Amino acid sequence: MNVSDSEIVASILTGAGYTYTSDLMKADIILINTCSIRENAEVKVRHRLQYLGSLKKKNHELVIGLLGCMAERIKTALIEEENLLDLIAGPDSYRDLPKLLTEVGSGHPLVNTILSQEETYADIIPVRLDKNGVSGFISIMRGCENFCSYCVVPSTRGKERSRDINSILHETQDLFDKGYREVTFLGQNVNSYRWSENGTSITFAELLARAASLDPSLRIRFATSHPKDLPDELLMTIAHYPNICKAIHLPLQSGSNNVLDRMNRKYTREQYLQRINAIRQHIPGCAVSTDIIVGFCGETEEDHRQTLSLMEDAGFDFAYMFKYSERKLTLAAETLKDDIPDPVKERRLHEVIRLQQELSLRSNKLDMGKNFEVLIEGDSKRSKNHFSGRTSQNKVVVFPKTITEVSHYVNVKILRCTSATLMGEVIPQSSTG
Ligand code: 5AD
Ligand code: SF4
Repeated sequence: MNVSDSEIVASILTGAGYTYTSDLMKADIILINTCSIRENAEVKVRHRLQYLGSLKKKNHELVIGLLGCMAERIKTALIEEENLLDLIAGPDSYRDLPKLLTEVGSGHPLVNTILSQEETYADIIPVRLDKNGVSGFISIMRGCENFCSYCVVPSTRGKERSRDINSILHETQDLFDKGYREVTFLGQNVNSYRWSENGTSITFAELLARAASLDPSLRIRFATSHPKDLPDELLMTIAHYPNICKAIHLPLQSGSNNVLDRMNRKYTREQYLQRINAIRQHIPGCAVSTDIIVGFCGETEEDHRQTLSLMEDAGFDFAYMFKYSERKLTLAAETLKDDIPDPVKERRLHEVIRLQQELSLRSNKLDMGKNFEVLIEGDSKRSKNHFSGRTSQNKVVVFPKTITEVSHYVNVKILRCTSATLMGEVIPQSSTG
C-alpha cells in the first residue's frame, strides 16, 4: 500500500516539474511516507525524523514533509515535537502537494490531512519506484469500513472507495507495455471492490478476469481478502485463469472465537476453516498466507492454543505475525484493556513464529521434485551467479544462471529448500513469455 502511495506522490510531483531521486544527499525535498498500523512503524519514522533533523541543521533550505497515515493520526503531536517538518499531508491530500510545496518556508508547517469520500487517484498513473521492473503494484481501492477493533486504518484512511475499472485496466496495460509481467492489485479488502458500469455492478472477480485477459503472460496477484466475504465466484475465477496467481492472503488474526468477536472480525474459526476448505476444493495447489496478532486484549492461554491449532489445520504457507499494539482512536483502545503483559505477548509470538517456520518448511518440502513456472525478478541477493524469482504460489525460488537467453519465465525443478526459499535448476527447453 505504501509503495503504491509513494508512486502516486512521485507521479503528481513529476507532473508538476519535480525530479525524483532516491539519493537522500541529492534531494532538496524529502518526503517520508508513513504507516501507523503498528507501533513499530511509528517508532521507525521517529528515528528517521531525528536523522533528517541532523541533515536540516546542515542545510536550512532542505524541505521535509511527512505523508500518509501517521501524518493524519498524530499531526498535532508531530508539529509540537518535531519542529523540523515543513509540511504534513494525509493520504487523501497528495494532489495538494505541488501547491503546499510552493508555500513552504513560513516557519510553520503546512498541513492538509482532510480525508475524502471520493479520492481514488484514479487518473494518476504512478511513477514506478520499485527496482526490478518486473512486478508492480496497483491500488484498486482506498479506505476501509470494517472497523476491526484493533485497527487504525478506518480512521486514518477513511471510507472505502473503489477505483474506476477502466483506469485500473489502463494502468495494468501500461505496466505490461513497459515490460512488467506481474501486477498486484492492492486494497484493504479487495473482495468488496465494486464498480458500476452502464447500470451493471462489476465485482472484484470480474476485474480480475478482465485484467487476466489482457495478456496470458501477465500475472495478476492481489491482497488483501477479508475472510468474511471471500466468495466462491472469486475462487472459481482464480482457478479458471492460469495467469491469476494461485496464492491467497487471508488474514486470520486469531483462532479463538472469543478473540475474533472482540476483534470485530465478523467470522468464526469454523467459518474461516470452511473458507480454507473451499480454497483447497476449487484451487488445488493454492498457497494460503495469513496475518496473526498475538496478545490481543483478554487473550487466554486457551485462546492462544486455538490460534496454534488453527494454524496447523489451515497449514499456512506463510504468515506475518505481530504482537498486539494498542493504537489510539481504535475501538479496542477505547473499550478494552491491553492487559497481556509484554513477556507473555513475546512468548506467544515466538510460539506462532516457530510453528509457522515448521509449516512453511513442510509446505516447501512438498514442492521438492516438482516443476514450477518461475517469473525471474533479478539476481539472487546472495549470489550474482543465481537468479531469484517467484512461483505462482508466491514462493521465492533461487537457481543457477545456466541459461544464456533470459526471458521472463523459466521452468524450474525444485531440488532443495529451507523454510523461506526453494532452490532448483532450470529445465532448459520449456521457457515461455
Ligand atoms: N497491533 C498489531 N497488529 C496489527 N495489525 C493491524 N493493527 C494492529 C495492531 N494494533 C496487523 C493485522 C493486519 C496487518 C496489516 O497488521 O494483522 O492484518
Ligand atoms: Fe484494518 Fe480490519 Fe480494515 Fe484490515 S479489514 S484495514 S484490519 S479495519
